[in-house]
Amino acid sequence: MLKYLKKYWIFCILAPLFMVGEVSMDLWQPALMARIVDQGVLQSDFSLIVKVGLQMILCVLAGGMSGVLCGVFANIASQGFGNDLRKDLFGHIMALSFEQTERFSTGSLITRLSNDVTQVQNMVGLAIRGVVRNGVMFAGGVFMLWRQSPRFSLVAACGFPFIVALMAFFLKKASPLFRIVQEKLDGVNHVMQEDVAGARVVKAYVKEDYELGRFDRANNALCTENLRVQTLLAFLGPGINIIMNLCVVAVILVGGVTVKSGGDLTPGSIMAAITYLTQILGGIGFMGMIFQTFTRAKASAERINEVLDCQSNLTDGENAQPEAARGTVEFRDVSFAYPGTKENVLEHIDLTVRPGETLAIIGATGSGKSTLIDLIPRFYDATAGEVLVDGKNVRDYTLSDLRNKISVVMQRAELYSRPIEENIRWGAPDAKPEEIKAAAQTAQADGFICEKEYGYYTPVSEGGHSLSGGQKQRVSVARALLKPHEILIFDDATSALDLRTEAALYDALSKQDPDSTKIIIAQRIASVRRADRIIVLDNGGIAAAGTHETLMENSEIYRDIFRSQQREGGAA
Ligand SMILES: Nc1ncnc2c1ncn2[C@@H]1O[C@H](COP(=O)(O)OP(=O)(O)O)[C@@H](O)[C@H]1O
Ligand SMILES: [Mg+2]
Repeated sequence: MLKYLKKYWIFCILAPLFMVGEVSMDLWQPALMARIVDQGVLQSDFSLIVKVGLQMILCVLAGGMSGVLCGVFANIASQGFGNDLRKDLFGHIMALSFEQTERFSTGSLITRLSNDVTQVQNMVGLAIRGVVRNGVMFAGGVFMLWRQSPRFSLVAACGFPFIVALMAFFLKKASPLFRIVQEKLDGVNHVMQEDVAGARVVKAYVKEDYELGRFDRANNALCTENLRVQTLLAFLGPGINIIMNLCVVAVILVGGVTVKSGGDLTPGSIMAAITYLTQILGGIGFMGMIFQTFTRAKASAERINEVLDCQSNLTDGENAQPEAARGTVEFRDVSFAYPGTKENVLEHIDLTVRPGETLAIIGATGSGKSTLIDLIPRFYDATAGEVLVDGKNVRDYTLSDLRNKISVVMQRAELYSRPIEENIRWGAPDAKPEEIKAAAQTAQADGFICEKEYGYYTPVSEGGHSLSGGQKQRVSVARALLKPHEILIFDDATSALDLRTEAALYDALSKQDPDSTKIIIAQRIASVRRADRIIVLDNGGIAAAGTHETLMENSEIYRDIFRSQQREGGAA
């Protein structure tokens, strides 16, 4: 992660430098105090008290200024670090394949992007300030204490190993717990994200209490783990304190005995020694705090690195030159099983779609229709066989080149919380208003959009909830039409439209966009009977193919679907 700090190296140097300034002032203070007590107060030298007093004030001011500057620089470095890291991580998450996103789970990715980055960022800020501060404090304190009297250093040296041992013990215990805490946080974010996004379903099923219970369990699990770590670490501070205070008592004892037996120690020097000792041991204690943050940040850094190290398994190809005509799609003996499952969803699919052809895919739910078309833009890679676009294996394109050829309307219309106009323009940022209107007209969306109070500038609420299902679908279709494409794929994209609007849409589509290859998944035969070719997908294989008329003649399964829909249509 250090590479993210490189850009801020100047601040990483400046901050500790000013910290050295602040600490030197802190270290100078007790010496000045000893002088005031021994030479000023005890010998009633008033002018010396004033002189040294002034020095002390200057010392405090200079120390304070250095402290402020150190803080500012350390923050610039750590915030910049966090900002860059978050940006990089986000870019990485966007590049993950569907499979990888599913494996991490959305909740966990959100935790990593927010909380984990913050942990590491805090640690960087603390390290820049704290490590130097305490290092200098420790070394300086030891030196100054030695100067007051070597005997005192001996006392400090006795306390030192105990404190280090105490710290090592607790941190070793806490380290694995921090990782568990982050995992529990994943759990909370997971429930939260699912329920906030799916709030409507929760309400519709009156499942608030049930979901609250689920959240409660995740939240309590987090709380329990947090308490376990914190209870463990609660012993650390007082433990260090006890050792520290024992040392202070020892110093007073040693000092008192020496003074009483007419030794070379003064009350001022004993006072200074106590302050130095507190500084040294306090510094060690603070190091403990830093290590604690470090341990926690280490767990977070590992989790961030897991994502950063996760190279998308969909790698770019060499960017092949197309060999066949624009808009050809070919499946050569393609089989597919979802990652982590054994059963093939698609089996031995052989299929060629000619440029400009309209191919319809019909089949029961779960027969693999969506899966089949997901292989064309490489949302997933075929397990066996090849998928070719324009005569070249899809793996040989760069992902962006491949996906730029294809416009997909997914089964679930996803819209963003922006005006309708921006939603449509999403895939073609430079589109002119008349182009946007034309796309909307083809998608049969222009009518309802113009009836809205703000027309094309009507805001869409999050997830598109402010539009009806059919309106959402038509906006999604307009968005796909506007994006430059050779291949147009509709995955059940017009299922919520009434038959008349749907027919008008396909009519307009064949007039306005005659050249692109169209692959249309549909539930209703009525939607697609005019397609150039219809294939019937059954259990992951192509059960029949042909025009509506030939299928009616030759395919039992097609006739079955047709008849059942006729009955439903008649009944409705
Ligand atoms: N991400 C996934 N992971 C595992 N199995 C999946 C996934 N998506 C779909 N499936 C399974 O693949 C089969 C085909 O699904 P799908 O292609 O969506 O069907 P269709 O679009 O024809 O309704 C179904 O049995 C479904 O359960
Ligand atoms: Mg589907």
